[in-house]
Amino acid sequence: MTFRKLLLLVSLLYTAQALAKPAVPTPHQNAIASGHFLATDAGHEILARGGNAFDAAIAVSATLSVVEPISSGIGGGGLFLLRQAGTGREVMIDARETAPHSATPDKYLDATGQLDRDKSVNGPMSAGIPGLPAALVHLAKNYGRLPLSQSLAPAIRIARGGFEIYPRLETGYSQRADVMARYTGSRGVYLADGDPPQTGEILIQEDLARTLELIAEKGFDGFYRGETAQEMLSDVAKYGGNWNAADLAGYKVVERTPMVIEYNGWRITTAPPPSSGGVAIAQMLNILQPWDLRKMPPVLRTHLITEAMRRAYRDRSLYLGDPDFITIPLDRLVSKNYAAGLRASINPDKAMPSSLLPGQLAPGEDDETTHFSIIDSAGNRVSATQTVNLYYGSGMVVEGGGFLLNNEMDDFALKAGTPNAFGVMGYAANLVAPGKRMLSSMTPSYMDNSGKTVVLGTPGGSRIITMVLLGMLAADAGLDAQAITALPRFHHQYLPDKLFAEPGAFDAPLIQGLTDLGHTVEVAKSPWGNMQTVIWDKQSNTLSAGSDPRNEVGLGKVVEAGKVKP
Ligand code: DON
Repeated sequence: MTFRKLLLLVSLLYTAQALAKPAVPTPHQNAIASGHFLATDAGHEILARGGNAFDAAIAVSATLSVVEPISSGIGGGGLFLLRQAGTGREVMIDARETAPHSATPDKYLDATGQLDRDKSVNGPMSAGIPGLPAALVHLAKNYGRLPLSQSLAPAIRIARGGFEIYPRLETGYSQRADVMARYTGSRGVYLADGDPPQTGEILIQEDLARTLELIAEKGFDGFYRGETAQEMLSDVAKYGGNWNAADLAGYKVVERTPMVIEYNGWRITTAPPPSSGGVAIAQMLNILQPWDLRKMPPVLRTHLITEAMRRAYRDRSLYLGDPDFITIPLDRLVSKNYAAGLRASINPDKAMPSSLLPGQLAPGEDDETTHFSIIDSAGNRVSATQTVNLYYGSGMVVEGGGFLLNNEMDDFALKAGTPNAFGVMGYAANLVAPGKRMLSSMTPSYMDNSGKTVVLGTPGGSRIITMVLLGMLAADAGLDAQAITALPRFHHQYLPDKLFAEPGAFDAPLIQGLTDLGHTVEVAKSPWGNMQTVIWDKQSNTLSAGSDPRNEVGLGKVVEAGKVKP
């Protein structure tokens, strides 16, 4: 056979095989759910201009940085879980902040050796080196179709033109007003008219627009080197922090292999370390696997799920941190065998006090950070959670740069055995060290079975993981995208040894039944979380989007948005 004939034969065989393969279906529509309609609209605008889900993610992310500065921003970080439709490639872009060269545990203690909370949550010492701008650049370069000048255009336009302040920005500001007033940069943005932001006013962020333009023009160097870098270095130094040029220029996003969990016929893809979310979700689902939670009486169901939560959060406090700095016994933690042992320690008739679980001993919180979920018409997916940590992060806007620095350093165990702002405890695995990433609870996820793809996630500090778990169980029970986001929530995090419930989540018989089993049930004053879910129903080939109704509960102004467009 001649070489030409051989080539022809090979190509015929190849074509026949390709024809025999069922075509991968695509949704033919685009769905985005995010914490603000301007961000959701920005994503759809970029899709309409020929962008894919990854370009849309850049637009949504950057717009959230502009319109939800209370939750996330380019001075913060995030975790972006991606799936490329064509190749099936799955990856998590880890854009978590890193500790600056100067960060050692002794820097965060007061004269008596106790954790200095002012340093851990306010001002420049509380800030890690931002990761979000690097993630946007990385996404555009490696996954998107459009240049940053296009995908960042909506965010730049809104920063410059302004947007209407809504109640959550106003009420959250009042909690951080004293800290914000310390910094010239913060006063310039938020007190420009002489008083704190009020609902209905227009917030214009000219400096932020300019910083975004520099990223659009120069990519990584537009933020981590040059003018913006210089602004960060001088403002951080002015207020008592210590960053150097190498902290910024050396920042790198890390591409990490997502965690994959099999549960009840679902393939669940979720966040690996330095998030604690995926490991904890794997442990909880492995423990719960043999039980049919869909058919159980509410007291027993809630009890068993709570006991699974307690055990997973114990392990979180002991074993999890930045995988580039510590060795995590990952195989053991996610093994079915280990889960069987944990399951065997659960008594269906009695709560196990956390103090009886081998481990070291911790304790509630605030609801900020933000999540968005995207499926585009080709089937590309993005599940992304991004944050500046607590309300308005460190409270410090970089003068000239126009963006808030995060206060993510508080997610380290800055003093081993002293709980952080979320009441979660940490020890050696999560101690601070230069260049290290602080442990996160952010759990961007998606799940697939033969009928559906569900993309979901939420903010909520240490409660993120249990909210995502309950969302997954709700998806397994067949709830739709909106119902999953609206579902009442409960939470246990090992310490404090309390079963927290949202107002209205538990009726009186359920509270009584759980109390009789030995749980200390505490009904929270307000609901928590801000879940964003999109679902692709492969049977009907339709997309739907659900956005958490809690976003503006009782405040009369709805800004959240889940939208499906052609
Ligand atoms: O990465 C984390 O786990 C936290 N910094 C997330 C903070 C958060 O969700 C704030 N909202 N409650």
